[in-house]
Amino acid sequence: ANGGAKPGKTRNIVEKMEESGKNCVIFYGSQTGTAEDYASRLAKEGKSRFGLETMVADLEEYDYDNLDSFPEDKVAMFVLATYGEGEPTDNAVDFYEFITAEEPSFSNSNEPLLGNLTYVAFGLGNNTYEHYNSMVRNVDKALEKFGAHRVGEAGEGDDGAGTMEEDFLAWKDPMWAALAEKMNLEEREAVYEPIFSIVERDNLTKDSPEVYLGEPNKMHLEGTTKGPFNAHNPYIAPISESRELFNVKDRNCLHLEVDISGSNMSYQTGDHLAIWPTNPGQEVDEMLNILDLKDKQDTVISVKALEPTAKVPFPAPTTYDAIIRYHLEICAPVSRQFLGTLAAFAPDESIKAEMVKLGSDKDYFHDKISKNHYNISRTLSVVSNGQKWTNIPFSAFIEGLTKLQPRYYSISSSSMVQPKKISVTAVVENQLIPGRSDAFKGVATNYLFALKQKQNGEPNPEAFGLTYELMGPRNKYDGIHVPVHVRHSNFKLPSDPTKPIILVGPGTGVAPMRGFVQERANQAASGETVGKTILFFGCRKRAEDFLYESEWEEYKKVLGDKFELVTAFSRQGAKKVYVQHRLKERAKEINELLQQKAYIYVCGDAANMAREVNTVLGQIIAEQRGVSESKGEEIVKNMRAANQYQEDVWS
Ligand code: FAD
Ligand code: 2AM
Repeated sequence: ANGGAKPGKTRNIVEKMEESGKNCVIFYGSQTGTAEDYASRLAKEGKSRFGLETMVADLEEYDYDNLDSFPEDKVAMFVLATYGEGEPTDNAVDFYEFITAEEPSFSNSNEPLLGNLTYVAFGLGNNTYEHYNSMVRNVDKALEKFGAHRVGEAGEGDDGAGTMEEDFLAWKDPMWAALAEKMNLEEREAVYEPIFSIVERDNLTKDSPEVYLGEPNKMHLEGTTKGPFNAHNPYIAPISESRELFNVKDRNCLHLEVDISGSNMSYQTGDHLAIWPTNPGQEVDEMLNILDLKDKQDTVISVKALEPTAKVPFPAPTTYDAIIRYHLEICAPVSRQFLGTLAAFAPDESIKAEMVKLGSDKDYFHDKISKNHYNISRTLSVVSNGQKWTNIPFSAFIEGLTKLQPRYYSISSSSMVQPKKISVTAVVENQLIPGRSDAFKGVATNYLFALKQKQNGEPNPEAFGLTYELMGPRNKYDGIHVPVHVRHSNFKLPSDPTKPIILVGPGTGVAPMRGFVQERANQAASGETVGKTILFFGCRKRAEDFLYESEWEEYKKVLGDKFELVTAFSRQGAKKVYVQHRLKERAKEINELLQQKAYIYVCGDAANMAREVNTVLGQIIAEQRGVSESKGEEIVKNMRAANQYQEDVWS
């Protein structure tokens, strides 16, 4: 497990804590940045409220075999997200395998192995998934099994119910109380202490070559970018094609292809493409404006961590503008705790009181802020009635907001057919906000929409009033490039092409299914025998959002009766028809295929569709095989465990 180690950096957490004088480490397993954020917030709070000497630690950067020599008077916190089908996040895979092993190879063998370890645990999960919060549950079980002592409850946050933030806040207060008692900590009035020092650099301008204007790392800055391309190092891929797939005025869905032939990247059918977005200009301006940084937007600053265990989340020297545009999630929902922190910097006492109230009253916060989908700059502006917030240390923003995250898209092409061109199918997020006339506009998909306009030479590329810096930092891309990397997934065709497959992919859930069918058509065209391939696709109306309609006919020409497309149009008749209704209509055939060991794939909406499909399959099996419903469910469970049932779902 020596992956992410940098030379000269210890991977021994006990040693690290000793040498940096820490008594509390907060480990995180994070995929989209939220767990990492929560870890930082715990670190800050532990320090400011209880005087703990805290540090945040990426699980990937340490070894765990010496957790058994963790000092008795210190505490370890675990903030662990569960990803996809109950999997650990990428940075927590090694830790998870280690700690859940029958006999982890700890460096000592004194029993109980972890008898000295005091810990607290919080999990981030989504109850619409089968293995809800399994990471924190299994890690907690393992730590207990080896004799470690948990303080407080193991918390569980639920993204599916949309209560993650509130679950976290509700968990942490009793946890702090219990920890304070256990460690004899004295609570004090929390005073804000910045984690980063921000120094304006008069000797540099935004044109100085060493200044980062959004480049993610030094290679990008110096123009020497090379692979491996990954979550720290995107490939700036030329867009080879971008077109609209819907046939209706107010909704958009893009088919986007990027060319990876200039890179050493590769992908496999069923993988995900991560797209690195840029924030819209209007939102960047609003943020600069409310912080009164408009005149300074291009001022060069250096950003340094004030203590050795903290990490600056982007390269510097850089500018305020670049940080806000390329590195922070400024459009996302606001954290209630963050508003509490910002209260101290309010422009006047009444605004301060309002911020304190928002920070401490959950219902009031919901009513005033969450319900309206306000992001941070809108919130500040609404609360202060447009008055600028000139007192907020910029460090507080870097600490309080999530790093701008790449968004994942299921790859909709086959790597066998087009190994150097990756396509994705992305629906543009443009939801009307209840009770208001404006729409909520997704960051990445609207950026992609503007890129599509640029690609096709449409005048004034913009997405529904939003404009983006399409030329990239220093105008280095020509506006038709997009930063990407590939994330490998387990959503894979059976290696034997003669196996029958059942594909269930309504809406953009059809993306990976297109890759699968493309691949099978290719195999058939080159003379291979392929198994029955049956695709259940659903959308609103045939004439509006039937994705890849004409392509299916082409595949049919090659695959003949090996391919069948079953459609469910939900808004064409008097009654809603969904893919699971179609599955039910074909219960006999589905059951027979499954008994012939057909693989079944489900992609798209996790919240409702994937669950309902799961339930219906259990019912089909029960009915057709004359077994009880619970037996039907159990058979479906076993199919999942055997990878005969695979999901690629998101909410
Ligand atoms: P964002 O800006 O990230 O917003 C997303 C949602 O967050 C909004 O709709 C809203 O509900 C909420 N939100 C954001 N800000 C606020 C706020 N201020 N207040 C309240 N709510 C807010 N999508 C596809 O179209 N096709 C695919 O093939 C596909 N595959 C995926 C595969 C995986 C494994 C995963 C995890 C996701 C996949 N997605 C896919 C979804 C995709 O990654 C993005 O989440 C989606 O495109 C929206 O991104 P965005 O940046 O446009 O929206
Ligand atoms: P609806 O929006 O008309 O309800 C792609 O989004 C398709 O999936 C649409 O036809 C949508 O129908 C449908 N859909 C919505 N909820 C679903 C569910 N719970 N199960 C299956 N399909 C669903």
